[in-house]
Amino acid sequence: MSTPRRGRLALAAATLTASAVVAAVAVSAPAQAASTTLGGAAAQTGRYYGAAISPSKLSDSTYAAIAAREFTMITPENEMKMDATEPSQNQFNFTQGDALLTWATQHNIPVRGHTLAWHQQQPGWMQNLSGTALRSALVNHITQVATHYKGKLYAWDVVNEAFADDGQGNRRDSNLQRTGNDWIEVAFKTARAADPNVKLCYNDYNTDGINAKSTAVYNMVKDFKARGVPIDCVGFQSHLNTSVPSDYQANLQRFADLGVEVQITELDVQQGSSQDAIYTAVTKACLAVSACKGITVWGVRDSDSWRTGANPLLFDNSGNKKSAYTSVLNALNASSPTTTPTPTPTPTVTPTPTPTPTPTTTTTPTPTPTTTPTTTPTGGCKVAYSAPNQWPGGFTANVTITNLGSAINGWTLKWTWPSGQTIQQAWSSTATQSGSNVTVTNAAWNGSIAAGGTASFGFNGGFGATNTAPTSFTLNGTLCS
Ligand code: XIL
Repeated sequence: MSTPRRGRLALAAATLTASAVVAAVAVSAPAQAASTTLGGAAAQTGRYYGAAISPSKLSDSTYAAIAAREFTMITPENEMKMDATEPSQNQFNFTQGDALLTWATQHNIPVRGHTLAWHQQQPGWMQNLSGTALRSALVNHITQVATHYKGKLYAWDVVNEAFADDGQGNRRDSNLQRTGNDWIEVAFKTARAADPNVKLCYNDYNTDGINAKSTAVYNMVKDFKARGVPIDCVGFQSHLNTSVPSDYQANLQRFADLGVEVQITELDVQQGSSQDAIYTAVTKACLAVSACKGITVWGVRDSDSWRTGANPLLFDNSGNKKSAYTSVLNALNASSPTTTPTPTPTPTVTPTPTPTPTPTTTTTPTPTPTTTPTTTPTGGCKVAYSAPNQWPGGFTANVTITNLGSAINGWTLKWTWPSGQTIQQAWSSTATQSGSNVTVTNAAWNGSIAAGGTASFGFNGGFGATNTAPTSFTLNGTLCS
């Protein structure tokens, strides 16, 4: 194991002062029914909220309960790294990674793979290789690991931390770099060949603002896109101290404009008077960039953090929510769904709750048809549809498919809206709509449903006068109810 490198946490010159951060995060009004969890609130905007998890800690009930309750994406903190997965050359060990994946799957939480190629946490045998032997070993490693997890992950950090902190935008010197400058694109092409559907990300730190290092990564991504080297996303680790770059959002946006998704992948912020404001600013920056698909914090409780003593996370050592947690939750809940323009009112500029009836917060047994589980299992499937959050013109829905037939690999669920609703943004799936007919297909990681197993997804929708729940679904052409 390596030791955390304190120097890497130093920030770029262009930063906001703490007070400027506070000023920059002025209030905006809640736009919709508030969610009480990070994952739920992020889902209302079509994003995930994740955490780095260690499977060895899942036997701690406090830890496991927070992980299952709050997060909608999981990154293994160490278990899919090169030293863990290939401890001896060509002898692979997926025990820990698989344990995490199993837990995540049982909780319907997708997983970001981390990481296929890195200069750190290499097994000893690899540290001693160089030249063509190392290049071949790298290709073999990526092929074997990505094949083992094929179809089961949301994304891979294919290459981690390949650029230097020299202020010049050079590549970092490492044994991998010394095999030739093309090692990164070879890594991406190899990963794509092994798993055609997983999102392939480049991930780095000190790239959170516009600086020489992030510009070097930007130029590499631009070049990859121009030459057809497969790359789908860029991860910004965001290990932050007492300030956040003033151009954080602009930096995310310039990468998004290249046609890649962006993700905040390892967020933690040193405890101090500006911790809450920095967490808020990062949340708002991601929400303001439509290609920013999610935020992952690097650990659960402060005591779980790799940054010993920094107390940089959202839960204290006992698992209590910190004020930083509330800041993040409020920022997520204050955001309206970031979708293409719709005829719905734009609620972010209305500072007061509208006096119209708000059915979402009442528990009265009025006929609210959208929250009832539907269907009877007449076919090989059962579908539970619920719309737990609704506001004027919009709603969030959750759908769970139960497979009552034999195991399936890849699914398509169809229904027709009873009252002219629209799907605007789906997660854990891909959704399209034609007229009132909706077609939803599995995400890369939840396409396999065992006999008796389930798969879940959610979406933001729009509606006009009424929001009547659909009652008839087909799964892979079979009528569920
Ligand atoms: C860290 C883990 O949190 C520690 O448990 C481990 O000892 C060292 O690695 N950038 C990364 C992560 O991409 O993989 C690192 O995780 C933190 C820095």
